[in-house]
Amino acid sequence: MKIVMLGAPGAGKGTQAKKIASNFGIPHISTGDLFRVNIKNETALGKKAKVYIDQGFLVPDDLVLELIEERLGMADCKEGYVLDGFPRTIPQSKALDHTLNNKNDKLEYTIEVDVPDEVIIDRMAGRRACLSCGRTYHLETLRPKAEGICDFCGSFLILRDDDKPETVMKRLEVYHKQTQPLIDYYRERGILHTVDGTGEIEMIYQEIINILV
Ligand code: AP5
Ligand code: MG
Repeated sequence: MKIVMLGAPGAGKGTQAKKIASNFGIPHISTGDLFRVNIKNETALGKKAKVYIDQGFLVPDDLVLELIEERLGMADCKEGYVLDGFPRTIPQSKALDHTLNNKNDKLEYTIEVDVPDEVIIDRMAGRRACLSCGRTYHLETLRPKAEGICDFCGSFLILRDDDKPETVMKRLEVYHKQTQPLIDYYRERGILHTVDGTGEIEMIYQEIINILV
């Protein structure tokens, strides 16, 4: 099963992608998480990507493709995956199609999690993230059992540098300009499914499961 999660920053792609991945036993692949691990480990790729991420811009396609192609080549991707935050531009989606075509394969589902910008801005301020396992929490809607500590791996939770309100505004602007055209691209191919992302996390998940089974 090969699934792409689409939606604005903070729409809940990561939250839903993790649940889908664990339900179907396939990997959750978030390019944002992969970049954050590279930034934390101060790799050459991480240093280059940080400059763009901290300003709310997209990382250039060539750096993203270098990262994702290596990941999709790993053994755990054979039965499928949930892509979260990739593709984000038309050239990235064409590169993904090309990689899949070469394996006689194709994408099966793209799930758009639809949330208005004003809801997003509120959500981001309350988000706390685990840099070790990528899980996200929220100060009001999804609190960890122990304050400031990840339930799953015990690491400290942080407020992401790019969740500052002015950077969130920039990320939303970039999303509407560079990523939203993908919605039409996948709709024309007949594989786009849109869910309302403003309800409860569990309700949205059920809606997605109904699409996938
Ligand atoms: P990335 O990490 O992908 O960030 P993003 O797309 O901006 O998305 P977020 O992770 O911020 O949000 P999300 O939709 O996963 O929401 P979440 O589930 O956490 O990318 C970061 C940066 O890396 C980019 O800006 C770019 O620079 C670069 N990058 C990454 N991939 C790239 C690519 N392919 N090309 C170029 N550049 C790339 O939820 C948000 C919050 O809301 C959480 O606190 C959560 O608990 C809460 N929440 C979730 N659902 C609900 C709900 N239903 N109700 C209430 N609260 C909810
Ligand atoms: Mg995310």
